Amino acid sequence: MIQSRHIYIILRDYKYFSNRAKLALMDRFLIDHIDPLGQGVFKKDGEVFFIPKTLPDEEGIFKILKQKKGVCFGQLEKLTKKSPDRITPECRHFNTCSGCHFLHTDYSNELKIKTQTFARMLRDIPHLDIKVLASDQRLHYRNRIQLHYDKNLIGFKQSKTNHIIAVPDCLIMQPQLKQVFDDFLSQWQQQRRRLKEPTRGHVELYFKNNEIKINWNKPYASGGFTQVNEPLNKKVQDLILAQYGEIEGGLLELFGGEGNLSHKLNFDRRVCVDLYTDPNDDQVNLDLFKEDALKIFKKKVTDDFGCVFIDPPRSGFKGLSKWIEHYRPKNLLYMSCNPITQINDIKPILESYEVSDIWLIDFFPSTFHFESIIVMQQKS
Ligand SMILES: C[S@@+](CC[C@H](N)C(=O)[O-])C[C@H]1O[C@@H](n2cnc3c(N)ncnc32)[C@H](O)[C@@H]1O
Repeated sequence: MIQSRHIYIILRDYKYFSNRAKLALMDRFLIDHIDPLGQGVFKKDGEVFFIPKTLPDEEGIFKILKQKKGVCFGQLEKLTKKSPDRITPECRHFNTCSGCHFLHTDYSNELKIKTQTFARMLRDIPHLDIKVLASDQRLHYRNRIQLHYDKNLIGFKQSKTNHIIAVPDCLIMQPQLKQVFDDFLSQWQQQRRRLKEPTRGHVELYFKNNEIKINWNKPYASGGFTQVNEPLNKKVQDLILAQYGEIEGGLLELFGGEGNLSHKLNFDRRVCVDLYTDPNDDQVNLDLFKEDALKIFKKKVTDDFGCVFIDPPRSGFKGLSKWIEHYRPKNLLYMSCNPITQINDIKPILESYEVSDIWLIDFFPSTFHFESIIVMQQKS
C-alpha cells in the first residue's frame, strides 16, 4: 500500500510518467462537482479526472484505472476529507458494484445533485423551475434486472473494467424479483452445466403481474418494454392525468408501447405507435426511425391529433419536428430517459411551442439515471 508521503514524491514527477506507468499510480483529488454519470469531477494540469462515489469538496486519494487524451477515470482509494453529506451505504456491495451511484449520500442530496445536473442541461431552454417527482422507495423497486455471466461467475458488470461482480445481497430488486434472483443463484451452478447457451453472455430476470420471465442472451426488454419502477409509474400516470384530465382532439402517442402514459386519461381517440406493438385499432406497428415513417403512418391513419405524447429510447427522436409540423398539436408531452437528446429534439420547435412544465421523474433512485417530462403548448 502506498503511503500518502510517497504519493507526494510520485506526484512531483507525475507529468514525466508514461501513460502505462500512470495507470499503476495513485493521486490526490479535490472534487469540484458531480457529473451526469454520478462521478465526482476534478481537474488538474489540463486533465479531467472522474472518480465515482465521491461528493463535492471531498478530498482523498484515487487509483488511476483508465486514461486517454486528457481524460482519466479513477477509483476511490481513501478519503482524507469527507463531505458532511456522506452516509454509510446501505448496500454492502456499493463500493465494488457499479450498479448504484448515490448510496453514499442520502436521498434528498441525491435528488439535489440530479436536479442540478438537469438544470445545467436545460440552460439554453427558457423554462420555469424543475419540479421533482420522487420515488417512495429508494431501494427494492426494480422489477427487471440484467445479469452477466462468464463460466461459473454471475453478477453485474463493472462499468470501467467489465469485470463481473457477484452481488448476492443486491438491494435494488423489488421483493418478488429478489426471491426469483435468490432461487436463480442457488441453482446457478447446476443450471449452468445444463445450459445450451454460450459459456459467457447475459440473462434478464423479470417479474410482472405475478409472472416470472427469464430471457437468455436477448436484447434488453425484448419481450416488450415496461417501466421498471411500477409504483412510480403509477404516480407518473397520475401526474399526466392531473396535467390533462380530458384530451380534446385526439391523442397520438409515439413510442407509446401499449399506451402506458395515457392509461388513466379520457380521450375520444388515441393511437399508439411502437415498433413492438400488436397492431389493432388503437395501436400501429411502425419503425419510427425510418425516413418515411410519417408518410407510411398517414396512409394508415387519417385522423388529426390535438395532443402528442412522445417517449422514445435513449437516442431520442430526430424526426420530432417533422411530425409536429404536420399535426401542429395544441399540446405536446415529451418524456425521456435521456434529457440530452430530449433537449436537442425540442430545440427546433421552440419558435412555435413554449415550455409550460418540466419534471424530473426519479424512476431509478440510487443510480445517476432519471427520466424527464417536458410539457409544451403551441404559442398563440
Ligand atoms: C422508453 S419506452 C416507452 C414505452 C411506453 N411509453 C411506456 O411507458 O411503456 C420506448 C418505446 O420505444 C419503442 N421503440 C424502440 N425503437 C422503436 C422504433 N424504431 N420505432 C418505434 N418504436 C420504437 C420501444 O418498443 C418502447 O416501447
